[in-house]
Amino acid sequence: MFVILLGPPGAGKGTQAKLLAEHLGVPAISTGNLFRQEVASGSELGRRVRSYIDAGQLVSDETTLSILSDRLSKSDAADGAVLDGFPRTVGQATALDRLLAARSRRVDRVLDVAVPENVLLERLTGRWTCPSCHASYHEINATPRRPGICDRCGSGLVQRVDDRAEAIQIRLRNYRERTRPLVDYYGQAGVLTEIDGDLDPKTVTRAMLKATDSAATV
Ligand code: AP5
Repeated sequence: MFVILLGPPGAGKGTQAKLLAEHLGVPAISTGNLFRQEVASGSELGRRVRSYIDAGQLVSDETTLSILSDRLSKSDAADGAVLDGFPRTVGQATALDRLLAARSRRVDRVLDVAVPENVLLERLTGRWTCPSCHASYHEINATPRRPGICDRCGSGLVQRVDDRAEAIQIRLRNYRERTRPLVDYYGQAGVLTEIDGDLDPKTVTRAMLKATDSAATV
């Protein structure tokens, strides 16, 4: 099953993608994490995309599609994936449709995670992430057991450069102008479910599982 998590920065896509992917037995694929891995590795691609990511700007469709199709071609994604942060433009969505159609697959469900903007700002400015396993924490809502240390892998937690106020505003604007049109795109395709993301994480997971279970029986 191919599931897309749509939603603004800080909606909880990364937090939920891992849980949902475990339940569905497919990988969670985040284009943001793929790009951050390239930046951390110092690769040529990482050097090229770093300034876009740090500033909160979208990477070009061409570069994003290239990294995503490489990842989707791995064997663990043959039967499905939870896509977190992809697609983000109508061009990316149509390219994904073509990519999946070539494998006789399609997007099965799109979960549009809705959270009010004031809550998004609180979440992003208080977020700490693990650079190794990408677990996400929050200084008030989701604290690690040992301060500054990832519960899952023991690495030191960091704050993302694009969680500065100025970059957050650019990310929110890009979301409104370039990603929000995907709600209509997938609504017309009949695969969209809106999820209230302003609830405790377990309740959000339950709502997502319900939506994907019902998609599985269609
Ligand atoms: P990406 O990494 O995808 O960032 P994003 O979409 O801005 O999303 P975030 O990771 O900020 O938030 P999230 O929704 O995953 O929330 P999280 O679970 O962490 O992309 C980064 C950059 O890469 C882009 O700006 C762009 O430059 C580039 N890029 C990536 N994909 C691209 C694409 N397709 N095209 C072009 N460029 C692309 O949660 C946030 C916080 O809230 C955490 O602290 C968490 O603990 C807390 N939290 C989560 N859920 C809850 C809850 N239910 N209640 C309370 N707190 C919660």
